[in-house]
Amino acid sequence: MPVVAKVSDVPSLGKKLVVVEGQEVLLVNLKGTIYAVENECPHQGAPLAAALVKDTYLSCPRHGYRFELKDGSCKEFPEFKLRTWPVRVENGDIIVDLA
Ligand code: FES
Repeated sequence: MPVVAKVSDVPSLGKKLVVVEGQEVLLVNLKGTIYAVENECPHQGAPLAAALVKDTYLSCPRHGYRFELKDGSCKEFPEFKLRTWPVRVENGDIIVDLA
């Protein structure tokens, strides 16, 4: 599984967009826990690199749908689910399982 960035590259409550094996992966640091999610909003494709990080979710900049970071679910519109990938942190390296 690839190392995609360092934890220190992703500020707390911030994001970093990386491309792994041709796939855009948005890394989000929620108070020290790193999540890896798809950059494209499942609603109408807005880039979530511009999303707000709040509480436990990302808020899409286009229409404000809120996607839980832990599983990509959207409470208001459950038919839209953001893709997420498992993350591991080892010695400050972020490893994402894209399988
Ligand atoms: S494009 Fe993200 S909520 Fe509509």
